[in-house]
Amino acid sequence: MFADDEARILTEAATRDGVLDPELLDSLVRRRERGEPPEHIVGGVEFAGLRLSVGPGVFIPRRRSAFLAGLAVEAVETRAPRAVLVEAFCGVAPIAAVVAARLGTSAARLVAVDHRAEALTHARINLPADALVMRAVVPDGLSTVLDDAGVLGSVDVLAAVAPYVPTASRALLPAEAVDHEPADSHDGGQDGLDAVRGLLAGARRWGAPGGVVLCECHRGQAPAAQAFAADLGFGCRVHHSDDGQTAVVEVLVPR
Ligand SMILES: C[S@@+](CC[C@H](N)C(=O)[O-])C[C@H]1O[C@@H](n2cnc3c(N)ncnc32)[C@H](O)[C@@H]1O
Repeated sequence: MFADDEARILTEAATRDGVLDPELLDSLVRRRERGEPPEHIVGGVEFAGLRLSVGPGVFIPRRRSAFLAGLAVEAVETRAPRAVLVEAFCGVAPIAAVVAARLGTSAARLVAVDHRAEALTHARINLPADALVMRAVVPDGLSTVLDDAGVLGSVDVLAAVAPYVPTASRALLPAEAVDHEPADSHDGGQDGLDAVRGLLAGARRWGAPGGVVLCECHRGQAPAAQAFAADLGFGCRVHHSDDGQTAVVEVLVPR
């Protein structure tokens, strides 16, 4: 984000009913000077044409994940009406929010799952009132919450931006991310794929026959994720984003 954009965003956030509050602006600028991300300060982020609620202590959805959101929309569309979409590791639930905004609330039954209460507070704001927003540790606790939601074994689309940064690479992320987003929202273990493997390993238990799992990763991680899926006996393909970095691994649950 450019400095001009930041200045505009903070000024807008300090303006109430058309009147600038200089003290509020001063406090927002001081938070920014201490390195806090603008999105946390103003409580919102633009994502795929939506304005989503975010705040301190949660992962800020990245623009690159709009690619996964588009694929999730297509996958739900082909399985509508009332396909079951689960966003695992949902954070503030950007993927489910895009599906609801593009296809309407009757196209999919939405379930969003994360282990962090702060993230789920924002997910509830970002999703329609009938979405199920559930707290669980993934993958171990996912069967239980899907069972509670009545969708265990009938998930049509499981979409996730799981933590996928290799542990040793987290220190290389921008300071804003390292200092202001939870470590467990980035850290995906030694090769970054621990959480992705956990999702693929559970796909048969959670998914409907013919269902699909869509996991974002870095394009350099995709071959290892694809090989893991093949070992599990899944058909798998990889979608590459135009940004040259982002990939989405798509796994089909056998019929
Ligand atoms: C990379 S962030 C993605 C969030 C959201 N999908 C997005 O794109 O903005 C990963 C999320 O996984 C959550 N998380 C990390 N480990 C988890 C676990 N074992 N079980 C459930 N959620 C977890 C974090 O709280 C964080 O919200």
